[in-house]
Amino acid sequence: MPKEDEFLYGEFPKNFWWSVASSAYQVEGGWRDDGKGLSIWDQFSHTPLKISNGDNGDVACDSYHKIEEDVEMLKSLKVSSYRFSISWSRVLPDGTTRYVNEMGLNYYERLIDALLAANIIPQVTLYHWDLPQALQNVGGWENDTIVQRFKEYAELLFQRLGDKVKFWITVNEPYNVAYAGISIRPGRAPYVVAHNLIKAHAEAWHLYNDTYRAKQGGLISITINSDWAEPRNPHNQEDISAARRYLEFLLGWFAHPIFKTGDYNEVMKTRIRERSLAQGLSQSRLPEFTESEKQRIKGTYDYFGLNHYTTVLTYNLNYPAVTDRSWLNSGSFWLKVTPFGFRKLLRWIKEEYDNPPIYVTENGVSERGASDFNDTWRIHYYRSYINEALKAIVLDAVDLRGYTAWTLMDNFEWAVGFDEKFGFYHVNFTDPDLPRRPKASARYYTQIINCNGFPDAAAGPHPCLELESEGKRYSRNCAFLV
Ligand code: BGC
Repeated sequence: MPKEDEFLYGEFPKNFWWSVASSAYQVEGGWRDDGKGLSIWDQFSHTPLKISNGDNGDVACDSYHKIEEDVEMLKSLKVSSYRFSISWSRVLPDGTTRYVNEMGLNYYERLIDALLAANIIPQVTLYHWDLPQALQNVGGWENDTIVQRFKEYAELLFQRLGDKVKFWITVNEPYNVAYAGISIRPGRAPYVVAHNLIKAHAEAWHLYNDTYRAKQGGLISITINSDWAEPRNPHNQEDISAARRYLEFLLGWFAHPIFKTGDYNEVMKTRIRERSLAQGLSQSRLPEFTESEKQRIKGTYDYFGLNHYTTVLTYNLNYPAVTDRSWLNSGSFWLKVTPFGFRKLLRWIKEEYDNPPIYVTENGVSERGASDFNDTWRIHYYRSYINEALKAIVLDAVDLRGYTAWTLMDNFEWAVGFDEKFGFYHVNFTDPDLPRRPKASARYYTQIINCNGFPDAAAGPHPCLELESEGKRYSRNCAFLV
């Protein structure tokens, strides 16, 4: 076994944040009689298996009415923080500050209070993909007036929730917001969307930095998603360059402006200009930032938020990535179990962006088909990925501050509906009460949290491996897992 594949026993730094995530549209439910405006996802009618509540919207996991149950699950997981998102159209039904839906805002206040009472730190995402439909009607992220709209929305939340929320994420996975349009709006649109997302993020960061940081003292940044890219043939220069290109087009698209220079990376600029000109366009499809915009964007971060799930193999063709058939599958076609890539990506971010503090804001694995509460594949995924995170800290000196598992409970997995399940908790969607029940992986994650890592089994039984009450039996039977 190569040295880097060996399991590393050891602990995470003291005060490491152990978290679990969800997002508004995926768990809350619509409940428009409580004043929520339509979002683009309420309008997305082709989604299979959407669980509908008639005219009142979609039910999802109904977290909107289940604060207590959700917080109980978090307490029993023993997480130090909970990452959730605010539904823009629940708070501002038409996307603008013209009208504030107090009932919607109150839901988040109650959730935050319940978390704080349980000693759980709220990590709040402003935008996790559920754009108010009213803003989409005027062009959505393609219309640059959205930058101001987003800033006003952010300001309302800083004002109303900022004395209790100390960890903000402006945008979740800007790549997917921009890319979502590629198939239906090829050409320039994804680049314009990305351009506006970067500016909107930068404006929210400056607003917080200038006006709210001094009295509220929190952190604010962006969460970027990325695979790790491995050259298909590690000795072939073309494959190596393709790996670099893959990372620059995915993670670097947003990270280079924000964490480095204020501008797009050269790999993207060169490639997109060449292709645009070759197609007879007079200029690159990639928009340019003005000098003052670059100054405004550069350095607008307090930490590096990273969502990571999988690895690809790259080579020099138009479709630049494949996977290895020997890699373990999951319930999602795009997600192969490749823990080694996690450590490599963390190290790459450290080296590329001058060692920023990193919070992993999502990482996890899905299943499909009939429920099996003994989800050993998920235990295997978390054990091996979290161990790679430990190696990144201990062996590569990556400044990793926190880890977030995706996701608290099975929920609405976007275009695939409820078929792909990432949860620690199973949700029975056929029962109107939507009861939640833990899978084995929930207890396993709690054990990692209790131990703050992986105590060496050779050193004898460690007290942290003994979970309370019903967990006890499990930790004895599964001692082989640690
Ligand atoms: C998103 C989540 C999503 C998860 C699994 C991430 O891209 O932020 O909302 O459910 O991946 O696909």
